[in-house]
Amino acid sequence: MNRPIVRHAPIVASVPHLLHGGDYNPDQWLPTKETTWKEDMRLARLAGINTLSVGIFSWAALEPEEGRYEFGWLDEILDLMAENDITAVLATPTGARPGWMSHEYPEVLRVNRDRSKNLHGGRHNHCLTSPVYREKTTAINTALAERYKDHPALGVWHLSNEYGGECHCDLCQERFRTYLQGRFESLDELNQAWWTGFWAKTYTQWSHIESPSEHGRGEQDIHGLNLEWMRFTTEQFVDFYLHETAPLKAITPDVPRTTNLMGTYPGIDYYRLAQVLDVVSWDSYPEWTGTDKDAAKGARASFLHDLTRGLKGKPFMLMESSPSATNWRPVAKLHRPGVHLLQSLQAVAHGSDTVQYFQFRKGRGGSEKFHGAVVDHEGTEKTRVFQDVAEVGARLAALDGVVGTDTPADVAVVYDWHLRWALEDQKGMLQERTAYERTVIDHYRAFWERGVPTDVIDSSLIAAPGYLDRYKVLVAPMLYMLRPGVPEAIDAFVQRGGTFVATYATGYVDEHDRTFLGGFPGPLRETLGVWAEEIDALYPEDRNAIEWSGQSYEAVELCELVHAETAETLGAYGSDFYAGRPALTVNRRGEGKAYFIAARTGDDFLADFYGGLIAESGVERALDADLPAGVTAQVRTDGTTDYVFVLNFTPEAVTVQAGGETLELAPFGNAVVERPRA
Ligand code: GLA
Ligand code: ZN
Repeated sequence: MNRPIVRHAPIVASVPHLLHGGDYNPDQWLPTKETTWKEDMRLARLAGINTLSVGIFSWAALEPEEGRYEFGWLDEILDLMAENDITAVLATPTGARPGWMSHEYPEVLRVNRDRSKNLHGGRHNHCLTSPVYREKTTAINTALAERYKDHPALGVWHLSNEYGGECHCDLCQERFRTYLQGRFESLDELNQAWWTGFWAKTYTQWSHIESPSEHGRGEQDIHGLNLEWMRFTTEQFVDFYLHETAPLKAITPDVPRTTNLMGTYPGIDYYRLAQVLDVVSWDSYPEWTGTDKDAAKGARASFLHDLTRGLKGKPFMLMESSPSATNWRPVAKLHRPGVHLLQSLQAVAHGSDTVQYFQFRKGRGGSEKFHGAVVDHEGTEKTRVFQDVAEVGARLAALDGVVGTDTPADVAVVYDWHLRWALEDQKGMLQERTAYERTVIDHYRAFWERGVPTDVIDSSLIAAPGYLDRYKVLVAPMLYMLRPGVPEAIDAFVQRGGTFVATYATGYVDEHDRTFLGGFPGPLRETLGVWAEEIDALYPEDRNAIEWSGQSYEAVELCELVHAETAETLGAYGSDFYAGRPALTVNRRGEGKAYFIAARTGDDFLADFYGGLIAESGVERALDADLPAGVTAQVRTDGTTDYVFVLNFTPEAVTVQAGGETLELAPFGNAVVERPRA
């Protein structure tokens, strides 16, 4: 890896341990607090818990009437936590509003895409533009920060909860227009960018612009508008976060602030939002089945951890995970023995410095009363889940050395929100089966299966000068949109000796979702040495093939018809009218190589293709070993000591031969090996 290893500070400066704990709702237990809270502290310590997240949905408990604050209960629980060496992830309560606010000030209620106004209820249901909502937020956040600024338990600020959704009220429409006026010099420029000559869409007044809607034949066919609406929604959350966080930053400048993200949640560009967070945190709920399907689930969960780490390129927080069943899934499967520890160590392996849960104690009512928790309704440490959690606590306690360590990677895989918005909006190819996320993960998995540590990055990072220098391999499946600076950066990367892999559906549109002229893959045509003339969409039952290296691999769903211009053809299509035409090419350019995979394939092709590429490019692997299918290895390092996490996502026991050592892993088992860094 061509960058120095970095050792980061612990997330909470005074706690040099991996954090272990989770969401805790003591305010749901006020009537029995004398007994319940004390018992909670005893159980938390017994489970090796050193952090609890409090106040997440506590607005009604903190401000039961407008302007009347009740902090007594929070004082008491934070004192108890401090006495028990439990650091607080203290939340601002803005994830859900008290009823009085909606009834007194209806402007805080959200308006949907169809322009209907929401009732009071649920959570995450407020207009981010509303001056009233913003004022109430500032007031409560200021009061919290003033009250707890010197509290010894205060470790991290947790802003709101899982930001998401969008609002289409009149206030937001006005703000959207203002945003557009900042983005485009003139209406004329906007009309050009959005190609509004189509279907008589030309705008003649800024005030005529409305957010997209399906209602009453509302506007949904201007792709530039749809894209800008998603960018605006992202900016709304960035702006609201900055608004919410301002009093915390002013009063407690040294306490890190975060909001919990949701993996690839499509509604917000997390690379943008992460710019304003001090530390990234996220909520991970893999759908473990207890079967051999869990290898794929494991690869996906790892991808999401790597993606989250990549948002800021430093250790993150696993803010929530389930210690057992996840109640909102159609099937609330229990974790098989080993799985809880496996998913917890997996997060750490990929750069998390915390393992946190939803939730510490199960409530008695409400829709989450059957969600997995550390403490069950039974109420003691006797449960299987409690014992699983305590085992995680013990394992994490022995891993202090991992805190703040780096996750070196020679390979980067691209995942990009703006690209996804455009790709999933286009009408052509396969529409519903465009499968951007799945495709990126399929490519990522080929590295995961071989224990090759991988970063996940987006265009905003790629375009930064010199950023790609740290990598040996760059993989960008379906790089449909080329944002400014990206093609140049990729070309320079190849010229300097990097290996670049692109696929079908690359280089079709610019940042406004206007197609490139002069042949796809647009500005990457010279880099890849191919011209993609047409793309064939296949019915689910259709098959083609890539004939490569003496073998025939299935090609499915999308087959692009390309001309090898300066590229060399390595593999060709097996059938149909394009049989014999290039399906896999390599373009030697400068010191490097640019591969092009013209069709969607199965895992067999990806495994063989990337197996060869890993060997030839000399990228770092966590273990010099042939890993059994469904087993991965990942590394964290302080530059002197490597911590190698070997994780078995299969229901079978496996043996891994690494160097002179034999590791026996139980079903869903793990091993953490320390070694000097080579
Ligand atoms: C989300 C929320 C939590 C809880 C969990 C349940 O992650 O942030 O409040 O609802 O889901 O899985
Ligand atoms: Zn609004």
